[in-house]
Amino acid sequence: MQQRYQKNYSNTNTRIRKNSVYDILTLKKKGEKIAVLTAYDYSTSLICDKAGVDILLVGDSAGMVMLGYKSTMPVGIGEMLVFCKGVAAGTRRAMVVADLPFGSYQPSTAAAIKNAIRFIKVGCDAVKLEGGVELVDTIKALVSVGIPVMGHIGLKPQTSSLWEGYKVQGKTKDSSVKLIAEARALEQAGVFSIVLEMVASEVARIISKNLSVPVIGIGSGSGCDGQVLVLHDMLGIYEDIRPKFVKRYADLSNSIFQAVSRYRSDVKSAKFPEEQNFFHMNSNDYKELQKNTRKK
Ligand code: KIV
Repeated sequence: MQQRYQKNYSNTNTRIRKNSVYDILTLKKKGEKIAVLTAYDYSTSLICDKAGVDILLVGDSAGMVMLGYKSTMPVGIGEMLVFCKGVAAGTRRAMVVADLPFGSYQPSTAAAIKNAIRFIKVGCDAVKLEGGVELVDTIKALVSVGIPVMGHIGLKPQTSSLWEGYKVQGKTKDSSVKLIAEARALEQAGVFSIVLEMVASEVARIISKNLSVPVIGIGSGSGCDGQVLVLHDMLGIYEDIRPKFVKRYADLSNSIFQAVSRYRSDVKSAKFPEEQNFFHMNSNDYKELQKNTRKK
């Protein structure tokens, strides 16, 4: 499957079809794990899409990773729309899911629909909301107007200060029963998938087995139907937070640091630019120019 996709991708005449909700549900039915990454801009989306990632999530983690906010709470709709435009432009195959930022879907279902449509208009294929049973009506309303919705339960960064904070969820029987009920409520409300963040792996496995929609885990173990990571964490660009569940696939912070330091030193010592990096004028014209500009 992967090889066939990569072969097709290199042929620019081949029409590449966007992953639909149906395609994502089919991956679960087939037992194929779903690869999800966050993305916030055009150039990295091009790469992730080419590598065959199934879903690109424009997470509200963009507020922290791209804008340096201390949490995901301050990021606004206008800022998220800019990130989404870039990701949508760089994506031919992956489904693009926009994280609705805090404050954009809580006031009313009408506000949620109005704001979600803004993300669809800039090229996103679906939206994600953080929350459980309290969001059932909002999810139903979004789905009824044709907007695919991804749920997000377990650790919910937008409201983590209200609850136990950044802690693993579902460690006790009571909390795990509540999580299972929330997942069922979201499925019945019509979500096409659910992100489970930092949930004890045993509960995550039970939820994944019991739902017909795919469960995408982050810090929730190997029993989920798919996995999501923040791109900058797995590439080793973002060093401020190093959660246990992140596997580093590159050390780009160090690579970028080395490259920028070498560039700086080359500029200072006039080693850059070299002959192959610049352009010349017509030699006769140059001679004329020299005559005209010679100091008298
Ligand atoms: O904002 C985000 O990046 C997310 C993922 C961590 C799931 O919600």
